[in-house]
Amino acid sequence: MQDGDATEADIEVGDLNEDQARAELARLAAAIARADTAYHTEDAPEISDAQYDALKARNAAIESRFPHLKREDSPSDVVGGAVAEGFAKVRHDMRMLSLANAFDDDSIVDFDAQVRKFLGLGDTAVRYTAEPKIDGLSLSLRYEGGSLVQAATRGDGSVGENVTANARTIDDIPETLRAAPDLVEVRGEVYMSHSDFTDLNARQEEAGGKTFANPRNAAAGSLRQLDAEITRTRPLRFFAYAWGAHSEPLAETQMGAIERLRTLGFQTNPLTALCTGPEAMLEQYARIEEQRATLGYDIDGVVYKVDDLALQRRLGFRSTTPRWAIAHKFPAELAWTRLEAIDIQVGRTGALSPVARLTPVTVGGVLVSNATLHNEDYIAGRDSRGQTIRDGKDIRVGDWVQVYRAGDVIPKIADVDLSKRPDTARHYAFPTLCPECGSEAVREDGDAVRRCTGGIICPAQAVEKLKHFVSRSAFDIDGLGARQVEMFYHDDQLPIREPADIFTLAERDAGNVSKLKNREGWGQKSAANLFSAIEERRTIPLNRVIFALGIRHVGESASALLASHYGSWDAFEKAMTAARVGEGPEWAELTNIDGVGDVLAASVVTTFQQQAERASIDRLVAQLDIQDAARRGAVDSPVAGKTVVFTGTLEKMSRAEAKARAEALGAKVAGSVSAKTDLVVAGPGSGSKAKKAGELGVEMIDEDGWLTLIGDA
Ligand code: IVH
Repeated sequence: MQDGDATEADIEVGDLNEDQARAELARLAAAIARADTAYHTEDAPEISDAQYDALKARNAAIESRFPHLKREDSPSDVVGGAVAEGFAKVRHDMRMLSLANAFDDDSIVDFDAQVRKFLGLGDTAVRYTAEPKIDGLSLSLRYEGGSLVQAATRGDGSVGENVTANARTIDDIPETLRAAPDLVEVRGEVYMSHSDFTDLNARQEEAGGKTFANPRNAAAGSLRQLDAEITRTRPLRFFAYAWGAHSEPLAETQMGAIERLRTLGFQTNPLTALCTGPEAMLEQYARIEEQRATLGYDIDGVVYKVDDLALQRRLGFRSTTPRWAIAHKFPAELAWTRLEAIDIQVGRTGALSPVARLTPVTVGGVLVSNATLHNEDYIAGRDSRGQTIRDGKDIRVGDWVQVYRAGDVIPKIADVDLSKRPDTARHYAFPTLCPECGSEAVREDGDAVRRCTGGIICPAQAVEKLKHFVSRSAFDIDGLGARQVEMFYHDDQLPIREPADIFTLAERDAGNVSKLKNREGWGQKSAANLFSAIEERRTIPLNRVIFALGIRHVGESASALLASHYGSWDAFEKAMTAARVGEGPEWAELTNIDGVGDVLAASVVTTFQQQAERASIDRLVAQLDIQDAARRGAVDSPVAGKTVVFTGTLEKMSRAEAKARAEALGAKVAGSVSAKTDLVVAGPGSGSKAKKAGELGVEMIDEDGWLTLIGDA
């Protein structure tokens, strides 16, 4: 945070005198404007969302105490920053995925066990590549006939930005390939070396330009320049480690493919090694970690990938990550600082989350001023099962605390130094009323979290629900992010108080005297862009709608499961309206979906029973054109749309692989047999399910029959 050394920044709002408040409002206006530019225009955020929110909240608190001091250019009145002109969008032929993360050795042993289990390999060892995880940004390079035709950033994995002109300025990216396939998309990481980063910052500083916080930000900021000539002056490098669409296989193994990428003309990482089994993987991890400090560029872990590409294909993908790879991140970085205050944030599902406000401290190159404190037990020195943590030491305001960061996650507090505890420090009393709406906040049995019972009458829950609604995996409306939603929520002329309001915004604006385009921070073009971006999302796939509702326990993959099971909004809505927790056929159908447990099911069903929530959902749906869930897999698959149950022992593949394969072919996989089951695949030892299938007259085949049916025999 750019707090500088302004002393006002340290004073609680309630203690500021008028002069201090005026100075503080000026400082906050500058800091927020700077953050807006960095975020929206330069694409290089300098502070976290939480820090930004804290600046805005402090600004608003001071304005409400000293309304007459509110500035002409008050950040409270500005909606978003200038939107960067931006790059053209590119849809990736093959999605650019991310990796699951692991933070300790045991998780790597588990990963290997899961791979072998999925493939049904028993004790047979699997070979993996282990390679450094480069801390840069990924890029996909498309070569046709051996010539570079397009370079695209990852974006959301499906759609990235066209940065071809910029990529052509990077020395490590060949314009033409030696002996190339007709088509190949080469993927890898753009990064900046430590020495180039230091030089660049020195040059920038001398020229009075912007300096970068770390090499990754510098690489991202340099690649995403609208003027490719600026990129040319930035010393970017590229390691190739993966590929997307291709006209012919690059090799039969991961190692072979990397070798092929090298002969095509790319830099590949020299620390890439083959390892058989977890022990060898962990040895290579240790070797890479040892060299980390002297590599001359940032790495943040080691990536393991199953070497045999045929096995990679069988393992396939979860929703956003491959089953055949994992990133083993280096341990968290640590630092000590003072805990200045504990604030309570109220989340979308009403959870009261304690946040530590810290004297800003650098942890692994990033300035940290907030950390999560999880819940009241964590503060008190207990874990979720009541066992003591930190030797039972509680956390108090004024304490000297140890902060750590692991990966991109929110910083956490690991320890407290009791020898530095001030005499005045008192036990923290966790609130039992919601600090936002005053409703009672209760802890249900077995829940570590205290929740506000205000539901959608609680403004904090309503705003957080809206933020979730517009998030990337939900409605993802261009120009309507968390910040804009927050501002519209508090706008009396043109409010957005619930999701349905987004879709009536343009109409209400048209009938309004104070039009959006005339407001500060907005113009004719940005207002029109917003309305058309909203219009674009009126037609939307079912799974996104379900996810966007923000129902507790219903994440992206559960939403996809529900959407593909029910197929259409009408069917889903009808079933949820009729369902009762724990009883009846609708409940049975819901909980019979493989991957839907009782807790998730109860959460959906009760949401549909809550009148206010339900009415809000209905108002939203009335605004939308919800697309039926696409039946996954080939239309001509003989099992597409069928409900299949696997039972007994499968001999040629694991249950997980059979399920993944069936789903890829468009089938629904259920956990138990019912009248809705189309097909039962029964291996040896299939007891009650096979019996039930017999009673119900459901078609039953064995594993070989299944493989023949799907053409895998
Ligand atoms: S493989 C399907 N290998 O890490 C898997 N990724 O956290 C594709 N990364 O988005 C990625 N070094 O930007 C792979 N040696 C490496 C990598 C690597 C860095 C980045 C990449 C990816 C992210 C996932």
